[in-house]
Amino acid sequence: MGIIVKEDRLFLLNTRNTSYAFFRDDDGILVQLYWGKKIERPEDYDTETMVWEQGYHPAVDKKREECSSFGMMRYKEASMKFIFSDGVRDFRYRMQEYRAEGDRLDIVLQDQHYPLRVTLHYQVHEELDIIEKWREAENLGEETIGAERFFSGEFTLPGNGYRSINCNGTWADEFKGYEDTLCAGKKIYESMRGATAHVATPAFIVHQDADETRGEVWFAALAWSGNFKVIAEQTPYDYLNLQIGISDTDFCWNLKGGETFVSPRVYAGFSDEGLGKMSNILHRFAAQRVMPSASAERPLRVLYNSWEATTFQVTCEGQMELAKKAAQAGAELFVVDDGWFGQRSSDHLGLGDWYVNPEKFPEGLKPLIDCVKGLGMDFGIWIEPEMVNENSDLYRAHPDWIYRYSTRPVLEGRYQYMLDLTNPEVIRFIVDFIDRLLSENDISYIKWDMNRAMGECAAPHLEKEEYQSIWYRHVQGFYSIIEELRRRHPMVEFEACASGGGRVDFGCLSRFDEFWTSDNTDPLDRLSIQETYSLLYPPKYMRAWITDAADSADRRVPLSFKAHCAMCGSLGIGMDLNRLGEDGLAELAGYVEEYKRLRPIIQFGRLSRLQSGRKDDLYAVEYDKDGEAVLFVFLQLRPRGKYEYTVKLRNLEETAVYAVEADGRVLEKSGAYLMNHGLVLNMRADFSSKCIHLKKR
Ligand code: GLA
Repeated sequence: MGIIVKEDRLFLLNTRNTSYAFFRDDDGILVQLYWGKKIERPEDYDTETMVWEQGYHPAVDKKREECSSFGMMRYKEASMKFIFSDGVRDFRYRMQEYRAEGDRLDIVLQDQHYPLRVTLHYQVHEELDIIEKWREAENLGEETIGAERFFSGEFTLPGNGYRSINCNGTWADEFKGYEDTLCAGKKIYESMRGATAHVATPAFIVHQDADETRGEVWFAALAWSGNFKVIAEQTPYDYLNLQIGISDTDFCWNLKGGETFVSPRVYAGFSDEGLGKMSNILHRFAAQRVMPSASAERPLRVLYNSWEATTFQVTCEGQMELAKKAAQAGAELFVVDDGWFGQRSSDHLGLGDWYVNPEKFPEGLKPLIDCVKGLGMDFGIWIEPEMVNENSDLYRAHPDWIYRYSTRPVLEGRYQYMLDLTNPEVIRFIVDFIDRLLSENDISYIKWDMNRAMGECAAPHLEKEEYQSIWYRHVQGFYSIIEELRRRHPMVEFEACASGGGRVDFGCLSRFDEFWTSDNTDPLDRLSIQETYSLLYPPKYMRAWITDAADSADRRVPLSFKAHCAMCGSLGIGMDLNRLGEDGLAELAGYVEEYKRLRPIIQFGRLSRLQSGRKDDLYAVEYDKDGEAVLFVFLQLRPRGKYEYTVKLRNLEETAVYAVEADGRVLEKSGAYLMNHGLVLNMRADFSSKCIHLKKR
């Protein structure tokens, strides 16, 4: 049973392997009792109210609350803050009622004086070991109530000494995967850039002594693609308090009489077998509950993207040349990136003018699309709909369509301004131009980019009281556009990109088919980027290209290494194929063919991070599905005199015998041997790599 309620006060949420419990104490506060490995018997939980003696310690701070609200002598971080019209700023609630039905629990909290109701929602994904939380605030009166902080969920863990991992990074250097010990005080991960951004990921991962296969890990990921905040506070009362939700740093939602405000959802889980199991839980949940259903089942095509080959120097003939070679390499989708529209000859101009550039494509896109289709590939294109250059017809016609402060010069980022998606006219313009592009051309893939962060959150058509909600409204506008386009064009595949991995989050995961992981396509950097990415997000969504980025005057990385690295996700090619030569093209075609054979295991299988190049000489990652597995191994720099490496596999059947295809030879080994003794690999050079296929006999 997913949800058990005992004596109207104990709430026990059980999944297949985990339990999450809290109760309503005699003061009406919801207090957390447990989160971890399954304890399904409600009688085990002690629901005595903490005895509080007035003294130096505020009682509410000591309680491990399920839903804390600013005020009432709370000094820890609280998960909500409201301001009533008379200036009162604490929400004092009583639980009014609860509804438990199947896998769904709703708990209704009502202020004792003001007409404010907050409902805590829970959805238990029993088989998938995920508990989903979100909240709703409802103004039952007439006066406006300001919601200044309204997080999606609050979690606590007893004791101290926790460690926290996040995917922090920056442009072209995403997913660093830093880990810190949470000592006294607070650790905050936040984006204030209007998108999830590269600096942190909207999630928490905490543990005390876990590694890939051992130890307890608690985690949660927020389904939101804008400003977010994650706070981990080690309180003086021997517990860790974790908050996650939309950022409150510059936020206020004016909840008018009769209105409701709903928080984004947070997906939380627990693993008793380290980070590996955590990733498996999240990847499975993403595939079964979050991805658009068409995307969850459809394998992603091998794409060629011409950006790194041509940048803005796009011409119809040039693209056709590349398309011929891309088809020879085995690409299934040919993508023209930036530079095909308006007067877009560099990043200084043209954004917003979504007509096909007549000099570059005198007869429109049709000849190129026909050529691409004739070569047996589908056609895709790049857009950046939320932006405009000052030097563009769109800006000249609508200078009032951007976010700006009327008394200040407008700030540029990558020479562009941000369109005001809180304005319905702008939304209509964007939906219409993309709809037209997709209706008039045979386009089956869109790369949706976003290359600057939000800055001046003011919009000419909004009241100034609403300015602090613009961060939020922009994301809602963005979601509404992509949702409408998916409704009108259900077969089109959409990739979420924001200068690389700036929009990798569960909010985009439910509306896009894949992520552009990073603008950094050097495989030596990518290996660590991809490793950290995979902690939370599924490999199928990780677009990865084979490019020339790793090569320099004094370093050449073999094509095999580049290809194997990109084959760890959804394969793409981004190199200048004109420079590759016939032999190179044939070698590339070999990797693409191999990838297509292994694709179902890589895109739909279970991932295991076996070894990390951050700690060892090698990166090794395994994917397994239905009795088959693929193992990728990467040696960056070979230590002198070392030629052999042993890699132990993970998710095989002990007693089964596997045909192991490596280096053109087929060996037969039992699962027990492969997992306990390990596969001995000969790796003799810098940048050696292997792609090994294992199949149960
Ligand atoms: C961003 C993207 C790149 C490319 C360029 C085009 O940087 O991340 O992949 O599309 O924009 O301007």
